[in-house]
Amino acid sequence: GKKIHYKEKVDSTNNVAKKLAEEGAEEGTIVLAEEQSGGRGRLERSFLSPFAQGVWFSLILRPTFLPMEVSKMTLLAAVALTKALHKMGLVECGIKWPNDILVKDRKVVGILTELNASMERINYLVMGIGINTSLTKKELPKDLRKTVTSFTIENVPVHRQALLQEVLLQLERYYEIAETEGFKPILAEWKVLSMMMGKEVEVSEPGRSFTGKAVDLDDSGNLIVETEAGRETVLAGDVRVRA
Ligand code: BTN
Repeated sequence: GKKIHYKEKVDSTNNVAKKLAEEGAEEGTIVLAEEQSGGRGRLERSFLSPFAQGVWFSLILRPTFLPMEVSKMTLLAAVALTKALHKMGLVECGIKWPNDILVKDRKVVGILTELNASMERINYLVMGIGINTSLTKKELPKDLRKTVTSFTIENVPVHRQALLQEVLLQLERYYEIAETEGFKPILAEWKVLSMMMGKEVEVSEPGRSFTGKAVDLDDSGNLIVETEAGRETVLAGDVRVRA
């Protein structure tokens, strides 16, 4: 059966998972930790992961689709996570492009997907997921109080095991949809669960930044932003909803 590697403390579950994947671990293998000393986020940011205050884990996948479809896997994870959080009572959360889950403008889930692939095929993919469960405001460093939240901060009681179970169930469900029907139905759900569509946003990409209205997601999962100069396609970078 599939293995869950449970650890008390690691630098990053993504690092441990990558190592296991290199050693041939099968698809579905999970690395779960109580604490990360070097939790990582997108854009080389660090990700706060204190002892027992969240669900910090990584999932090894070996999908058969093309490497260029990988960004869509991240959108898939965001859809699955949002569904799971809704089921667990955090009904207010929504997706911020590409793959953060927020309550209002504070992050409750972050996803970091890392890939080992050639041009033609994916060798393995490590999907790292961090869900803030019982972080409290008091324990948050000051600079994070405006940008981070948790189940506890939102006054939603949470049971970590039940949450993880629901998350894995939803991930499996959407992964099966992707492999049988493709990503179209998943991108459609992403739009519904997004808290960005139709909103004024600020985009900062390496080398440029601009504002406009988030209007769509294209078939590759890029965000389409309508500006005064026309439609822009956002491939990477940071997008914020304007206050
Ligand atoms: C982000 O917010 O930009 C993504 C954060 C991803 C955090 C998770 S926690 C488990 C896994 N291990 C890591 O080091 N990062 C991911």
